[in-house]
Amino acid sequence: MAKRKRKGATATLAPPSEPPVQPGMIGPRRSVPATVARPPYALSGDPGPSVSDVVRTPDEIASMRRAGAAAAEVLMIAGTLAVPGTPTDAIDARVHDEIVSRGGYPSPLNYRGFPKSVCTSVNEIICHGIPDTRQLRDGDIINIDVTIFLDGVHGDTSCTFLVGDVDEVSTMLVRETRIAMYEAINVVAPGQPFNAIGRAIQTHAEKHRLGVVRDFIGHGVGTEFHSNLQIPHYYQPRFTKKMESGMSFTIEPMLTLGGIDFVLWDDDWTAATSDGRRTAQFEHTMIVTADGVELTTVTPGGECAADIYAT
Ligand code: MF3
Ligand code: CO
Ligand code: CO
Repeated sequence: MAKRKRKGATATLAPPSEPPVQPGMIGPRRSVPATVARPPYALSGDPGPSVSDVVRTPDEIASMRRAGAAAAEVLMIAGTLAVPGTPTDAIDARVHDEIVSRGGYPSPLNYRGFPKSVCTSVNEIICHGIPDTRQLRDGDIINIDVTIFLDGVHGDTSCTFLVGDVDEVSTMLVRETRIAMYEAINVVAPGQPFNAIGRAIQTHAEKHRLGVVRDFIGHGVGTEFHSNLQIPHYYQPRFTKKMESGMSFTIEPMLTLGGIDFVLWDDDWTAATSDGRRTAQFEHTMIVTADGVELTTVTPGGECAADIYAT
């Protein structure tokens, strides 16, 4: 494939050079009590083809609110562990326990064979980092991506947390990635084309000379973890399909300080930027309403990690 040309990367934005993130050791799979309802892929690892409707029923919407609120609570708790010295596997342990104690199943666990209960993506890791023995260091940034299966539906949300004292350029990256997500959420309403989402994100990213990752996109989410809707975070003119009331999906932009290409680690999951520059991500699950959008991944009080930790 030809190398894509992209706007945005400039040498002046280079953060201090740092050692790349190295894989640690991955511990054994955590167990889920037999009483907890599991998604269909939990045993085989295979979610099969997506068959669910892209529009949720009123009952499913009520469930999405419960699952989303639980995911938001767990992500806020996970954020308390984003401090120097925490092994990412300790975040996995806590997220796993908090999800199970709410009666849920940690959606990543055995999804297409993913070995852990949450994704933890540090510094140049774009997404799908596997929790392991690596300890967080002062100055790291870490995306924690929590998904819970509760009440027959998934709530999927993530936040990038600052670990200790983070350099100014990385702090800007995290701040603007969060804003890009909300700029996109603000365009969601019935009748709007899906390409308005990517246009909003790309417009914001370009203002700050940040790259927009193209290889991982937002997705329909509901009774299935990843259902049929595709939500690119860059401007894709041909995505003219219109949003409809009741549709449920994520917006989860990944912005970078440099290029937008990725390399996959040997674990077949961890996606790192090819140039080693840092990347940040935020994610909410939402439902299109009659006149706009409702975020499901907020607490009953309307709180979420992105608003508490990343502003
Ligand atoms: N939560 C991720 C998303 O936003 C998906 C993780 S899949 C896993 O879509 F298998 F890596 F957990
Ligand atoms: Co998602
Ligand atoms: Co996610």
